[in-house]
Amino acid sequence: MERDKLEKVREVLKGAKYLVVLAGAGLSQESGIPTFRGADGLWKQFRPEELATFDAFRKNPDLVWEWYCWRRSIIARAEPNPGHYAIVEMEKRFEQFFLITQNVDGLHRRAGNKKFVEIHGCIWESRCLNCHNVIEDHEIDHRKIPPCRKCGGRLRPNVVWFGEAIPDMSLRKSIYSAQNCDVMIVVGTSGYVQPAASLPFHAKQNNAFVIDVNVEATPVSEIADVFLQGKAGEILPAIVG
Ligand code: OAD
Ligand code: ZN
Repeated sequence: MERDKLEKVREVLKGAKYLVVLAGAGLSQESGIPTFRGADGLWKQFRPEELATFDAFRKNPDLVWEWYCWRRSIIARAEPNPGHYAIVEMEKRFEQFFLITQNVDGLHRRAGNKKFVEIHGCIWESRCLNCHNVIEDHEIDHRKIPPCRKCGGRLRPNVVWFGEAIPDMSLRKSIYSAQNCDVMIVVGTSGYVQPAASLPFHAKQNNAFVIDVNVEATPVSEIADVFLQGKAGEILPAIVG
Protein backbone atom coordinates (compact mmCIF):
# COMPACT_ATOMS: atom_id res chain seq x y z
CA MET A 1 0.00 0.00 0.00
CA GLU A 2 2.62 2.58 1.10
CA ARG A 3 4.87 1.40 -1.72
CA ASP A 4 2.07 1.98 -4.23
CA LYS A 5 1.54 5.46 -2.89
CA LEU A 6 5.25 6.25 -3.12
CA GLU A 7 5.33 5.01 -6.71
CA LYS A 8 2.34 7.19 -7.53
CA VAL A 9 4.08 10.25 -6.05
CA ARG A 10 7.29 9.59 -7.98
CA GLU A 11 5.30 9.23 -11.19
CA VAL A 12 3.39 12.47 -10.61
CA LEU A 13 6.66 14.31 -9.90
CA LYS A 14 8.18 13.02 -13.14
CA GLY A 15 5.43 14.73 -15.11
CA ALA A 16 5.43 17.92 -13.01
CA LYS A 17 6.88 21.29 -14.00
CA TYR A 18 6.33 23.49 -10.99
CA LEU A 19 6.88 22.07 -7.51
CA VAL A 20 6.09 23.88 -4.28
CA VAL A 21 7.04 22.57 -0.84
CA LEU A 22 5.34 23.84 2.32
CA ALA A 23 7.34 22.93 5.43
CA GLY A 24 6.53 23.04 9.13
CA ALA A 25 8.19 22.22 12.44
CA GLY A 26 7.89 18.44 11.93
CA LEU A 27 10.60 18.64 9.26
CA SER A 28 13.15 19.82 11.82
CA GLN A 29 11.98 17.42 14.54
CA GLU A 30 14.55 14.82 13.45
CA SER A 31 17.23 17.49 13.76
CA GLY A 32 16.37 17.58 17.48
CA ILE A 33 14.26 20.76 17.42
CA PRO A 34 11.00 20.43 19.38
CA THR A 35 7.76 21.03 17.45
CA PHE A 36 5.18 23.49 18.76
CA ARG A 37 2.22 21.17 19.22
CA GLY A 38 2.52 17.76 20.80
CA ALA A 39 4.18 16.42 23.92
CA ASP A 40 7.60 17.98 23.34
CA GLY A 41 6.10 21.34 22.38
CA LEU A 42 6.04 22.81 25.88
CA TRP A 43 8.69 24.98 27.50
CA LYS A 44 8.45 25.19 31.29
CA GLN A 45 4.68 25.35 31.74
CA PHE A 46 4.02 27.58 28.76
CA ARG A 47 2.41 26.95 25.41
CA PRO A 48 3.74 28.71 22.31
CA GLU A 49 0.45 30.61 22.09
CA GLU A 50 1.25 32.17 25.48
CA LEU A 51 4.77 33.22 24.52
CA ALA A 52 4.74 33.95 20.80
CA THR A 53 2.64 37.10 20.98
CA PHE A 54 3.44 40.78 21.16
CA ASP A 55 1.26 41.04 24.22
CA ALA A 56 3.36 38.43 26.05
CA PHE A 57 6.52 40.32 25.07
CA ARG A 58 5.06 43.64 26.24
CA LYS A 59 4.04 42.15 29.60
CA ASN A 60 7.10 40.03 30.21
CA PRO A 61 9.87 40.71 27.68
CA ASP A 62 12.55 38.90 29.72
CA LEU A 63 10.53 35.67 29.78
CA VAL A 64 9.87 35.72 26.03
CA TRP A 65 13.51 36.63 25.34
CA GLU A 66 14.64 33.73 27.56
CA TRP A 67 12.40 31.34 25.58
CA TYR A 68 13.93 32.52 22.31
CA CYS A 69 17.45 32.13 23.76
CA TRP A 70 16.56 28.58 24.81
CA ARG A 71 15.25 27.81 21.31
CA ARG A 72 18.33 29.41 19.73
CA SER A 73 20.61 27.29 21.91
CA ILE A 74 18.89 24.11 20.67
CA ILE A 75 18.90 25.25 17.04
CA ALA A 76 22.58 26.25 17.27
CA ARG A 77 23.46 22.61 17.96
CA ALA A 78 21.14 21.22 15.26
CA GLU A 79 22.12 20.11 11.76
CA PRO A 80 19.91 19.78 8.68
CA ASN A 81 18.58 16.20 8.35
CA PRO A 82 17.98 14.00 5.27
CA GLY A 83 14.53 15.62 4.86
CA HIS A 84 16.12 19.05 4.40
CA TYR A 85 18.65 17.67 1.91
CA ALA A 86 15.89 15.94 -0.09
CA ILE A 87 14.23 19.37 -0.50
CA VAL A 88 17.56 20.76 -1.80
CA GLU A 89 17.58 17.94 -4.35
CA MET A 90 14.03 18.86 -5.38
CA GLU A 91 15.12 22.47 -5.97
CA LYS A 92 17.90 21.19 -8.26
CA ARG A 93 15.55 18.98 -10.28
CA PHE A 94 12.73 21.42 -10.93
CA GLU A 95 13.25 24.52 -12.97
CA GLN A 96 10.20 26.00 -11.32
CA PHE A 97 10.49 25.43 -7.61
CA PHE A 98 9.53 27.32 -4.46
CA LEU A 99 9.86 26.43 -0.79
CA ILE A 100 7.55 28.07 1.72
CA THR A 101 8.73 27.39 5.25
CA GLN A 102 7.12 28.19 8.57
CA ASN A 103 10.36 27.28 10.30
CA VAL A 104 12.51 30.05 11.77
CA ASP A 105 15.54 27.81 12.35
CA GLY A 106 17.48 28.66 9.18
CA LEU A 107 18.18 24.98 8.41
CA HIS A 108 16.97 25.22 4.79
CA ARG A 109 19.61 27.84 4.03
CA ARG A 110 22.26 25.74 5.74
CA ALA A 111 21.19 22.66 3.75
CA GLY A 112 21.53 24.63 0.49
CA ASN A 113 18.08 25.78 -0.63
CA LYS A 114 18.01 29.13 -2.41
CA LYS A 115 14.46 29.60 -3.65
CA PHE A 116 12.55 29.92 -0.41
CA VAL A 117 10.67 32.28 1.85
CA GLU A 118 10.65 32.10 5.65
CA ILE A 119 7.08 33.27 6.21
CA HIS A 120 7.39 33.31 10.00
CA GLY A 121 10.75 35.07 10.01
CA CYS A 122 14.16 34.01 11.25
CA ILE A 123 15.24 33.29 14.81
CA TRP A 124 18.77 34.53 14.03
CA GLU A 125 17.56 38.09 13.54
CA SER A 126 16.40 40.78 15.93
CA ARG A 127 14.51 43.93 15.08
CA CYS A 128 14.36 47.29 16.85
CA LEU A 129 10.91 48.31 18.04
CA ASN A 130 11.92 51.95 17.72
CA CYS A 131 13.86 52.35 14.45
CA HIS A 132 12.92 48.95 12.86
CA ASN A 133 16.56 48.17 12.15
CA VAL A 134 17.07 44.42 11.61
CA ILE A 135 20.31 42.82 12.78
CA GLU A 136 21.72 39.33 12.60
CA ASP A 137 21.89 38.09 16.17
CA HIS A 138 23.48 34.79 17.18
CA GLU A 139 23.70 35.47 20.89
CA ILE A 140 22.24 32.67 22.96
CA ASP A 141 22.84 33.65 26.54
CA HIS A 142 21.42 37.14 26.84
CA ARG A 143 20.52 37.60 30.49
CA LYS A 144 19.14 40.98 29.52
CA ILE A 145 17.76 42.11 26.20
CA PRO A 146 20.54 44.11 24.54
CA PRO A 147 19.69 47.58 23.21
CA CYS A 148 19.60 48.44 19.50
CA ARG A 149 23.10 49.44 18.40
CA LYS A 150 21.71 52.24 16.25
CA CYS A 151 19.28 54.03 18.52
CA GLY A 152 19.35 52.27 21.90
CA GLY A 153 15.73 51.11 21.47
CA ARG A 154 14.39 47.74 22.54
CA LEU A 155 15.02 44.72 20.32
CA ARG A 156 12.55 41.92 19.64
CA PRO A 157 12.98 38.62 17.77
CA ASN A 158 12.40 39.18 14.04
CA VAL A 159 9.71 36.54 13.83
CA VAL A 160 5.99 36.65 13.14
CA TRP A 161 3.96 36.24 16.30
CA PHE A 162 0.33 35.17 16.70
CA GLY A 163 -1.90 38.04 15.68
CA GLU A 164 0.80 39.60 13.50
CA ALA A 165 0.76 39.72 9.73
CA ILE A 166 3.17 37.85 7.49
CA PRO A 167 5.16 40.47 5.53
CA ASP A 168 3.17 41.32 2.43
CA MET A 169 5.75 40.27 -0.14
CA SER A 170 6.32 36.87 1.49
CA LEU A 171 2.61 36.17 1.64
CA ARG A 172 2.02 37.22 -1.96
CA LYS A 173 4.84 35.01 -3.23
CA SER A 174 3.48 32.10 -1.20
CA ILE A 175 -0.09 32.47 -2.44
CA TYR A 176 1.08 32.97 -6.03
CA SER A 177 3.20 29.82 -5.97
CA ALA A 178 0.42 27.79 -4.28
CA GLN A 179 -2.02 28.88 -6.98
CA ASN A 180 0.32 28.18 -9.87
CA CYS A 181 2.20 25.02 -8.98
CA ASP A 182 1.16 21.66 -10.34
CA VAL A 183 2.40 19.69 -7.33
CA MET A 184 2.58 20.75 -3.67
CA ILE A 185 4.36 18.70 -1.03
CA VAL A 186 3.27 19.62 2.50
CA VAL A 187 5.59 18.31 5.19
CA GLY A 188 5.56 18.32 8.99
CA THR A 189 2.88 20.90 9.59
CA SER A 190 -0.16 20.53 11.83
CA GLY A 191 -2.17 22.76 9.50
CA TYR A 192 -3.66 24.83 12.30
CA VAL A 193 -1.85 28.14 11.92
CA GLN A 194 -3.24 30.57 9.36
CA PRO A 195 -2.63 31.81 6.76
CA ALA A 196 -0.03 29.07 6.05
CA ALA A 197 -2.65 26.39 6.64
CA SER A 198 -4.75 27.64 3.74
CA LEU A 199 -1.96 27.33 1.16
CA PRO A 200 -2.59 23.62 0.42
CA PHE A 201 -6.26 24.53 -0.10
CA HIS A 202 -5.26 27.22 -2.63
CA ALA A 203 -3.17 24.63 -4.44
CA LYS A 204 -5.97 22.08 -4.41
CA GLN A 205 -8.51 24.60 -5.71
CA ASN A 206 -6.22 25.28 -8.63
CA ASN A 207 -5.98 21.58 -9.48
CA ALA A 208 -2.52 20.94 -8.11
CA PHE A 209 -1.68 17.44 -6.90
CA VAL A 210 -1.24 17.73 -3.12
CA ILE A 211 0.98 15.34 -1.16
CA ASP A 212 1.03 15.38 2.64
CA VAL A 213 3.95 13.95 4.60
CA ASN A 214 3.36 13.69 8.34
CA VAL A 215 3.66 11.18 11.18
CA GLU A 216 -0.05 11.67 11.84
CA ALA A 217 -3.17 12.73 9.96
CA THR A 218 -3.99 16.46 9.87
CA PRO A 219 -6.61 18.62 8.13
CA VAL A 220 -4.17 18.74 5.18
CA SER A 221 -4.03 14.94 4.83
CA GLU A 222 -7.81 14.95 4.48
CA ILE A 223 -7.70 17.02 1.31
CA ALA A 224 -4.40 15.64 -0.01
CA ASP A 225 -4.34 13.41 -3.08
CA VAL A 226 -1.79 11.24 -1.31
CA PHE A 227 -1.00 11.08 2.40
CA LEU A 228 2.38 9.51 3.10
CA GLN A 229 2.41 8.70 6.79
CA GLY A 230 5.82 8.62 8.40
CA LYS A 231 8.92 10.63 9.21
CA ALA A 232 9.97 13.45 6.90
CA GLY A 233 13.62 12.36 7.12
CA GLU A 234 12.70 8.96 5.70
CA ILE A 235 9.87 9.75 3.28
CA LEU A 236 11.33 12.80 1.49
CA PRO A 237 14.59 11.00 0.58
CA ALA A 238 12.48 8.03 -0.64
CA ILE A 239 10.52 10.40 -2.89
CA VAL A 240 13.64 11.82 -4.57
CA GLY A 241 15.73 8.67 -4.24
P1 OAD B 1 3.35 22.10 14.77
O1 OAD B 1 4.20 21.87 15.98
O2 OAD B 1 2.01 22.70 14.96
O3 OAD B 1 3.12 20.72 14.03
C1 OAD B 1 4.19 19.85 13.75
C2 OAD B 1 3.65 18.76 12.85
O4 OAD B 1 4.73 17.94 12.46
C3 OAD B 1 2.60 17.84 13.50
O5 OAD B 1 1.52 17.67 12.61
C4 OAD B 1 3.35 16.51 13.70
O6 OAD B 1 2.50 15.38 13.55
C5 OAD B 1 4.36 16.57 12.58
N1 OAD B 1 5.62 15.83 12.79
C6 OAD B 1 6.31 15.69 13.95
N2 OAD B 1 7.46 15.02 13.75
C7 OAD B 1 7.50 14.71 12.41
C8 OAD B 1 8.44 14.04 11.57
N3 OAD B 1 9.57 13.53 12.06
N4 OAD B 1 8.15 13.94 10.25
C9 OAD B 1 6.99 14.45 9.75
N5 OAD B 1 6.08 15.10 10.50
C10 OAD B 1 6.33 15.24 11.81
O7 OAD B 1 4.26 22.93 13.73
P2 OAD B 1 3.82 23.89 12.56
O8 OAD B 1 2.65 23.34 11.81
O9 OAD B 1 5.02 24.24 11.80
O10 OAD B 1 4.46 29.89 14.30
O11 OAD B 1 3.34 25.15 13.37
C11 OAD B 1 2.96 26.28 12.69
C12 OAD B 1 3.36 27.50 13.43
O12 OAD B 1 2.86 27.47 14.77
C13 OAD B 1 4.85 27.67 13.62
O13 OAD B 1 5.51 28.21 12.51
C14 OAD B 1 4.91 28.61 14.77
C15 OAD B 1 3.89 27.97 15.67
O14 OAD B 1 3.37 28.77 16.60
C16 OAD B 1 4.98 31.00 14.78
O15 OAD B 1 5.93 31.02 15.54
C17 OAD B 1 4.28 32.21 14.27
ZN1 ZN C 1 16.91 51.08 16.86
